[in-house]
Amino acid sequence: MKLATKLIHAGVEPDPSTGAIMTPIYQTSTYVQTAPGDHKGYEYARTQNPTRTALQNALAAIENGKYALCFGSGMAATDAVIKLLNPGDEVIAANDMYGGTYRLFTKIFQKYGLKFHFVDMQNAENIKQHINANTKLIWTETPTNPMMNITDISAVAAIAKQHNILVCVDNTFASPYLQTPLDLGADIVLHSATKYLGGHSDVVHGCLIMNDTVLEEKLSFIQNSCGAVPGPQDCFLILRGLKTLHIRMQRHCENGEKIANWLRSNSKIDKVYWCGFQDHPNHAIAKKQMRGFGGMMSFTLKDDSMEAANKVLSATKLFSLAESLGGVESLIGHPASMTHASIPREKRIQNGLVDSLIRLSVGIEDVDDLIEDLDNAIGKEIISATNKREQNIAAV
Ligand SMILES: Cc1ncc(COP(=O)(O)O)c(C=O)c1O
Repeated sequence: MKLATKLIHAGVEPDPSTGAIMTPIYQTSTYVQTAPGDHKGYEYARTQNPTRTALQNALAAIENGKYALCFGSGMAATDAVIKLLNPGDEVIAANDMYGGTYRLFTKIFQKYGLKFHFVDMQNAENIKQHINANTKLIWTETPTNPMMNITDISAVAAIAKQHNILVCVDNTFASPYLQTPLDLGADIVLHSATKYLGGHSDVVHGCLIMNDTVLEEKLSFIQNSCGAVPGPQDCFLILRGLKTLHIRMQRHCENGEKIANWLRSNSKIDKVYWCGFQDHPNHAIAKKQMRGFGGMMSFTLKDDSMEAANKVLSATKLFSLAESLGGVESLIGHPASMTHASIPREKRIQNGLVDSLIRLSVGIEDVDDLIEDLDNAIGKEIISATNKREQNIAAV
């Protein structure tokens, strides 16, 4: 089956008791057994729930994996992966990723004797110098949040395989519509399903997808033992969100391309980070491993100050100032004070995350209205048609 068909049908069977076409929300904590151990495959709802099973099967299918496991949030899914490790183990992680992941690694897990190396993964070769006998996991996010850097997943996986190291890819920004990391050699795919998979900003959820049976057994043991599982209603909402992922993503990509080009043509804007630009440093890799470039982007202002950024952030009307991303509605955010506030200032500035950096999650509204909203907030610019054409040539 092709992705669009899988998104609508995978994992979902008419409900055996009524024929309901949508998997019901099995709001139950336990299941009645006719005799000890004689049950219908469900014993206790932390361990299994039919709504979760349907979603897990759907998620495995759309990421081209064999198994999926659901969690109460993206962070709970990340937490489960790190619990595969033992004290003394080392992780090589991207130096530009979601601030909450960095916080979990450094503020929670470091004290249990795990060592994290944060490296620039735009060049996969950079990983090699940090590999030693204790290295057990490589963690990457691509495109990254919020700098839109790209990691070459196949190149990282090839290096990891030589040393028997697991590779986990946070695929939240791309979604399986744009990129399927298991096909490129990754061992585990992670999603904050709160974002594009859910797609409607109404649920917090996370998941892991994998092919290896032993890995699935270990991770489902952690899922059940630690108990960070989602409720059935949240699973239902993700299952419903998946059914329109392909058409939402198509529009996110179209709107994203138009807005990225428009931002580039505005003289108040300094840099625009969007991996669809031909002159993006890793555009060739993005083109090789992605099927489009999405609606996530960041930009900086020529006036690189918190004040200037605040003015823009408070002036948009359609772009709502809020954390999160990937919903149908457009969001605007300020990584330095919001999603990435947990990263020390000098560290974030080193990685290009300057004070005026603004992140957009371009939604699926009418793009002309979105551009007008940004235009009103950033300030009107008169740009000659020739100038605009020249700037657009650099873009896809
Ligand atoms: C790339 C990425 N990974 C993981 C997470 C964490 O997900 P959650 O908020 O669902 O716990 C986020 C949240 O913003 C994210 O952007």
